[in-house]
Amino acid sequence: MSLTPIVVLVSGTGSLLQALIDAGTDLGYGVRVAAVGADRPGTLGQARAEAAGIPTFVCRVADFPSRADWDAALAQNIAAHAPAFVVSAGFMKLLGPVTLGQHTVVNTHPALLPSFPGAHAVRDALAYGVRVTGTTCHLVDAGVDTGPIIEQHAVAVEPDDTEDSLHERIKVLERLMLVDVVGRLARQGFTVTGRKVTIP
Ligand code: GAR
Repeated sequence: MSLTPIVVLVSGTGSLLQALIDAGTDLGYGVRVAAVGADRPGTLGQARAEAAGIPTFVCRVADFPSRADWDAALAQNIAAHAPAFVVSAGFMKLLGPVTLGQHTVVNTHPALLPSFPGAHAVRDALAYGVRVTGTTCHLVDAGVDTGPIIEQHAVAVEPDDTEDSLHERIKVLERLMLVDVVGRLARQGFTVTGRKVTIP
């Protein structure tokens, strides 16, 4: 089976990335992480990629005269690895129009969208007092966590949960969901009709 190349974008610890790397050691999974991009140097995510022998690049907003220049550079860095699609796995920057125009991007988010979009989803869900939250895998569009939903899983909030304890429990399901979705997208392809994503 030929392996579908993907580029994974990270900002932090990269446990989602690690799950994809681990899944890829089984050739039947059908996915090859062709490169890992980060928005800052020195992330554990980048170190995980290097440990697995995967090429990495860093594209930092502060290194460019404008956000538009950063967007164009990020798109070019990604394109150099010719991915079938891009996975935003804990990448904490909003992607720009050039990157989104050139690449299909799949994002994973630690809440049940459309509830609690943005960078503090777990904190916001706890503060609101929800009893159930979860994780969402979706296609990225120009909005903040507004793209068509591919998959979701629910997680119960426990009375004594902290942001960290709840996020860790969400991430257990999030890793399984992301590995499953990325594998199916790669092996089976997908179509988008309006807001409906179909994996045949
Ligand atoms: C994940 O929970 C991901 O959904 C979240 O960051 C975490 C990354 O974990 N992303 C966002 O909140 C984006 N809005 P990791 O660094 O261990 O893979």
